[in-house]
Amino acid sequence: MNNKIIIINGPNLNLLGEREQSQYGSITFEKLKENCIQKSKDLNLSIEFAQSNVEGELVDLIQDARNKFDGIIINAAAFTHTSVAIRDALDIFKKPIIELHISNIYKREEFRQKSLISDIATGGIFGLGADGYILAIIAMQKLVKK
Ligand code: DQA
Repeated sequence: MNNKIIIINGPNLNLLGEREQSQYGSITFEKLKENCIQKSKDLNLSIEFAQSNVEGELVDLIQDARNKFDGIIINAAAFTHTSVAIRDALDIFKKPIIELHISNIYKREEFRQKSLISDIATGGIFGLGADGYILAIIAMQKLVKK
């Protein structure tokens, strides 16, 4: 049964609720995690919710996901714009990938308007706030069932 997904969060997302509320809203990381777990349960998905501030740890999570998960939802945060290593790891994962951003990166500073992940992701969600995580889970359920 294809129902195992992982949501991978990059640097500083652990401080949601505290950091730049004008961009990311007031939801805390813990509450976001709770909401994602609940939504996944409703959709009969098994979910792991991970976060790291360390680029290499994110690469390890993505590599390990090859044999454990049917799909990856990733908010690589600042590494979206800089990390060839994360891009390369994702490119090795031959199953669905959803790129996710809470804010609309295309409306922000120029350095955020370039994603190294978009062209290898199955699809993406940005600018819809924390709800984007719930929408990504719904979309991923359809992708993994295909
Ligand atoms: C982000 C956007 C990135 O540019 C930023 O570095 C983040 C969060 C988002 O979810 O909107 O940390 O990925």
